[in-house]
Amino acid sequence: MTQKQTLTVRDNRTGDEYELDITDGTIRASDVGKIGKSDEEPGLAVYDPGFTNTASTRSAVTYIDGDRGILEYRGYPIEQLAESSTFLEVAYLLIHGELPTREQHDQWVHDITFHTFVHEDIKTVMRGFRYDAHPMGMLLSSVGALSTFYPEARNIKDPQIRHEQIVRLIAKMPTLGAWSFRHAQGKPYVYPDNDLTYTENFLSMLFKMSEQKYEPDPRLSKALEVLFILHADHEQNCSTNAVRSVGSSQVDPYSALSAGIAALYGPLHGGANEAVLRMLKRIKTKDNVPAFIEGVKNGDERLMGFGHRVYKNYDPRAKIIKKATEDVFEVTGVNPLLEVAQELEKIALEDEYFVSRKLYPNVDFYSGLIYEALQFPPEMFTVLFAIPRTAGWLAQWLELVDDPEQKIARPKQIYTGERQLDFVPAAQRWS
Ligand code: ACO
Repeated sequence: MTQKQTLTVRDNRTGDEYELDITDGTIRASDVGKIGKSDEEPGLAVYDPGFTNTASTRSAVTYIDGDRGILEYRGYPIEQLAESSTFLEVAYLLIHGELPTREQHDQWVHDITFHTFVHEDIKTVMRGFRYDAHPMGMLLSSVGALSTFYPEARNIKDPQIRHEQIVRLIAKMPTLGAWSFRHAQGKPYVYPDNDLTYTENFLSMLFKMSEQKYEPDPRLSKALEVLFILHADHEQNCSTNAVRSVGSSQVDPYSALSAGIAALYGPLHGGANEAVLRMLKRIKTKDNVPAFIEGVKNGDERLMGFGHRVYKNYDPRAKIIKKATEDVFEVTGVNPLLEVAQELEKIALEDEYFVSRKLYPNVDFYSGLIYEALQFPPEMFTVLFAIPRTAGWLAQWLELVDDPEQKIARPKQIYTGERQLDFVPAAQRWS
């Protein structure tokens, strides 16, 4: 017998019964809105701060099974992509929904490579920032500013125009990110080198000085490639939701993405790896780990880089990053904090407190160590996240623009303030 895919709800205020359809494990909020609705009363609504149990969209971009530790882009396991693909191929996959043919790939890489330069006036915009401006603030402002350079971008229903902005954004993000880094150091901005790959060129724009040509160590550019693949998308997280929400007003993609960058800027989203690094520095040596763990168990501390809202198993990205960490340290020399991190992980994975709460290392546990080894100051960590996430934001934005079910984002509220007060003009109130 096939099960009926409905939910029967009895409203005990009235005794009325409602049958709500269940589709893909969800009921429709609009069906809930019919419960108790009358000419005098609005129907029932759902209260869900932080959208912890509300699906805002149908999406075919990224699949996560947090209990099993599975992450797939367009159906492909993250482990296989990190092992054998490149960031630009993954970006193509996210945006187009399928892997490129050789011709499509070559055209895509060519187009991205030849859009890495930004208008010289953007340089003027960036130069206007204070000498100690946070690079993430510079990035979000300069991406927003790009919308004024490409006013045609507002034609979001035109597939060709959309494609041009997607190429521009993926191409120019490393340039803007690298320049925001150089700005804080008082160093000249380095122009893109189109002979290099995406990550090699990024390293060149970050670190090139007086040499004719910057030649990054292939192990470092490969590690960065892997990190970029791991951070390319993560379904409906805070910044993606910001891009979708702002994009639902049909604004141009530069403006929608600058909202995503702003969301990522926040310490609860993009900033955890910096907190891990601070924690490791505070613990200092392997010998201090047991005392620190006791502090965590007593509730005095939090083991940063452990635990995740979605993953209740090993974050699949953490496993891959751990391997990349070893590769980077082969080039840069081992950071003594690695030993502290490994000891923390070893003890925590065996300890009842962490096991029973399903707390495993997340993507941020090792990434800060890699970034530090690559000589990035902590302020750059979120910029390094925003560059690859651009591909995911754009894939999600495209999906939104083409989705006939989507409307302008406009949540409800439960009003808790005063009503119908009589206004007394200031002159009378103060006399
Ligand atoms: N260290 C110690 N205890 C923890 C930790 C941790 N890192 N994370 C969760 N717990 C404990 C909580 O105290 C709670 O214990 P209790 O049941 O005895 O009260 C239990 O585990 C459940 O934790 P919640 O806070 O309810 O889990 P939630 O899903 O809300 O939080 C979060 C997830 C915010 C990621 C949390 O695990 C945390 O703060 N981790 C450290 C910060 C971090 O690494 N953030 C990066 C996340 S990855 C990313 O954003 C890219």
